[in-house]
Amino acid sequence: MGWWLSEKCTLKALSMSSIFGKLIDIFNGIINQRIQSKASSASNDVLDAFLNLTKENNQEWSCSDVIHVLVDVFVAGTDATSDTIEWAMAELLQNPETMVKAQRELQEVLGKDGIVQESDISKLPYLQAIVKETFRLHPPAPLLVPHKAETDVEICGSTVPKNSQVLINAWAIGRDPSTWSNPNAFVPERFLGRDIDVKGRDFELIPFGAGRRICLGLILAHRMVHLILASLLHSYAWKLDDGMKPEDMDMNEKLGFTLQKAQPLRAIPIKV
Ligand code: HEM
Repeated sequence: MGWWLSEKCTLKALSMSSIFGKLIDIFNGIINQRIQSKASSASNDVLDAFLNLTKENNQEWSCSDVIHVLVDVFVAGTDATSDTIEWAMAELLQNPETMVKAQRELQEVLGKDGIVQESDISKLPYLQAIVKETFRLHPPAPLLVPHKAETDVEICGSTVPKNSQVLINAWAIGRDPSTWSNPNAFVPERFLGRDIDVKGRDFELIPFGAGRRICLGLILAHRMVHLILASLLHSYAWKLDDGMKPEDMDMNEKLGFTLQKAQPLRAIPIKV
């Protein structure tokens, strides 16, 4: 058993390093292309800003650093956003009356054919409540990322010794029955009329973390999740694949890089 486990871990580590290797190759290619085309092009984006830093400060900030920062941001930014949208759609397909309410709100605000814009998000309180409820039940990083205590810290009468690794269970905080009534149910209405958000002020809901190490991509991710979800709901009616009934959906979780649906959602869009 011990052998099997360590064999499996090694295989996993190997496939992870080959995936990271591929990502590094892709970014390498993009950077080389940019360096070659730079003389003729007048672009000025984040990659140019990074490359300028390597020129100004080439001892401390190399192309390899740029590649690793890009890989970090890419990895941090992709799965978490797509998982959230998948979980939101899964919850809505399991709770059809909630989906109808969301679609009605979108129709009232945007009209039948309107296209969702970023500026519409603030006019869609029910959609915002759905996103908060999805983050509460399915935080993509359930233990955030590991933190380390720089000094001894006293918290609520307990000492966290210097150098401890601290894992914060945002998943359990979101389902704590002393904070949330009916904590395992998907009820977006609980957020209506309440001044509570996911931006690190309200410690009972911290899918992006809080404080100095809060997610760097929060603003982008927050917008993308609302926009994509609104577009999916406004453009299509949805049904489950293979005539599956909502009550038969598998809502189990699996922890990879992020907290994913164990069974990928299979849903069919129907043009409205
Ligand atoms: C729904 C989407 C997302 C969720 C739920 C999420 C969540 C998180 C969490 C929980 C952390 C750790 C915070 C802590 O430990 O206190 C984190 C860190 C980070 N996130 Fe996100 N994230 C999302 C999307 C993104 C996107 C789109 C980007 C970039 C474009 C991004 C970039 C980062 C980076 C670079 C860090 C590390 C920050 C640091 O260590 O200082 N994230 N994120």
